[in-house]
Parts: sequence; structure tokens; C-alpha cells
Amino acid sequence: MKVAVASDHGGINIRKEIISLLEELHIEFEDMGCECETSVDYPDYALPVAKRVASGEFDRGILICGTGIGMSIAANKVKGIRCALVHDTFSAKATREHNDSNMLAMGERVIGPGLAREIAQVWLTTEYEGGRHANRIGKITEYENNEN
Ligand code: RB5
Repeated sequence: MKVAVASDHGGINIRKEIISLLEELHIEFEDMGCECETSVDYPDYALPVAKRVASGEFDRGILICGTGIGMSIAANKVKGIRCALVHDTFSAKATREHNDSNMLAMGERVIGPGLAREIAQVWLTTEYEGGRHANRIGKITEYENNEN
């Protein structure tokens, strides 16, 4: 599995925690910034990660900002991206099993690094269930494909 990771200035500490988790799990990853002390714009980080996941260059993407909301909104504009904004381990498991989410967003002003690490670990290691969920995801894909 190859994972792309990025944050804005509001998510730097959790991004570091996620990078340490990926190293521990021996998962290949690319850190796509930010290299920032000052304020940056989250779409400048969410969109490049989302495009590289959508293209198949990366299997998964993880984004962190202050709330996770801006990152998830931006990532979900990219065709083929199913970015889940998650702040609990139950949802981390469910969104992999049911939604086959290919991106995870979290907010550093919402949760601490310990919980973020647990969420990311569950999300990275839980398989998609397929079955009845495939039909539902198919409806989203169909909408994307027919959109003007
Ligand atoms: C930056 O101040 C903040 O707006 C950003 O990190 C994020 O929370 C946006 O959704």
C-alpha cells in the first residue's frame, strides 16, 4: 500500500504522528507538506493528494487540518475520491467496511495525536466488505461519471 499524507498549518502535529505510525507499520508513504510555520490554504494540500490518489499513484490519502472539514470538502471534489472525516475508531472501521473510503481527514483542533493514531491504524488495516455496499458506492460512481 502507498499512502500520501498532507496537512495545513493546523494539522502539523497529527501529521507527524501519522508519519511515525506509517513508519512503524512499514507502509510506503510520501509526505506532501506543508512545510509551514505560517498560515496556508488547505485546498493547496488536499487537492494534490486527492488527485494522486484518484490517478492510482497512491492507494490512500490522509489529510489533517484544524477541523478536517476543509480538507475533506476539497478532497471530495475530486472524481473517484471518497474522503471520510473521522474522529472516532468506530467510524474509522465503518467507513472502510461500508464506504471503501480511500482518503481519511482528521482535525487537530478536535482530537489529540493519540486518538488520531488509533483512528489511522484502524482505517489503514480494515478491509472493505463489498457485497451490498458495492451497489451503493456504484451509485456515487455513476453520478460522478454522468456529471457534466
Ligand atoms: C485554518 O485556520 C483552518 O480553517 C483549517 O485548518 C481547517 O480547519 C479548515 O477546515
